[in-house]
Amino acid sequence: MLRKKIVAGNWKMNNDIHETNGLIKDLLNESNSTNCQVMIAPSFISLQSSVTMLSDSKIEVVSQTMHHENNGAYTGEVSAKMLSSIGVKTTILGHSERREYFKETHDMLKLKVNKALENSMDIIFCFGEELKDRKSENHFSVISNQISESLFHLKKSDWTNIVLAYEPVWAIGTGETASSYQVQEMHNFIRTFVAKKYNTQLAESVSIIYGGSVKPGNAKEIFSMQDVDGGLIGGAALNSKDFFSIVNSF
Ligand code: 13P
Repeated sequence: MLRKKIVAGNWKMNNDIHETNGLIKDLLNESNSTNCQVMIAPSFISLQSSVTMLSDSKIEVVSQTMHHENNGAYTGEVSAKMLSSIGVKTTILGHSERREYFKETHDMLKLKVNKALENSMDIIFCFGEELKDRKSENHFSVISNQISESLFHLKKSDWTNIVLAYEPVWAIGTGETASSYQVQEMHNFIRTFVAKKYNTQLAESVSIIYGGSVKPGNAKEIFSMQDVDGGLIGGAALNSKDFFSIVNSF
């Protein structure tokens, strides 16, 4: 089974509308032919204009998070229904920054996953251990817990909409990348874990991407690992040349 290869740029809380438009123009200049699905996740306020600017390109615009209800008294929130209405078909969920700063729990993420699927959206589901978990050799149990608590209620058919993103917290924005050995070891663990719950065929079809200080200089090695199907890029996605150098590492 040929898995989808994905490089997604998570812009986090960076770039106002002017900077966003400028970066998208630069991206359009860089993106000729690519061997993978390219995605960018600008801030909510830039999603609609980004969708319009990229409508003739193969770059997909995705959101960084969403609320678990369609509408209602949730001041400041944005729903899957709203995102769908402007042509956003994919959302990132469970980023460690959302888990840490916005207290998103396994149960809350489960609701968000359900709501995204109800609205026919694809999900890039993030998880990752903290440094203390790795130091105490609890990283495998932390990861299996994050995955099973929010995703293992899903039906087999739901998994066609799921991309898994392993992002060890200690490697995010720190310049410290997990070694390609550590990445492959964890991705293989994740695939085996999914296979045990569902089956091998399903597990082999799920794309598992890596995030955490992926840069032009290390992307090729990380992407060459057997169970790595792409990357979720933070800092390096804010520069079009660096981002496309990573994209072209496939
Ligand atoms: P960095 O690439 O800046 O480490 O961020 C990774 C990330 O959090 C992507 O979601």
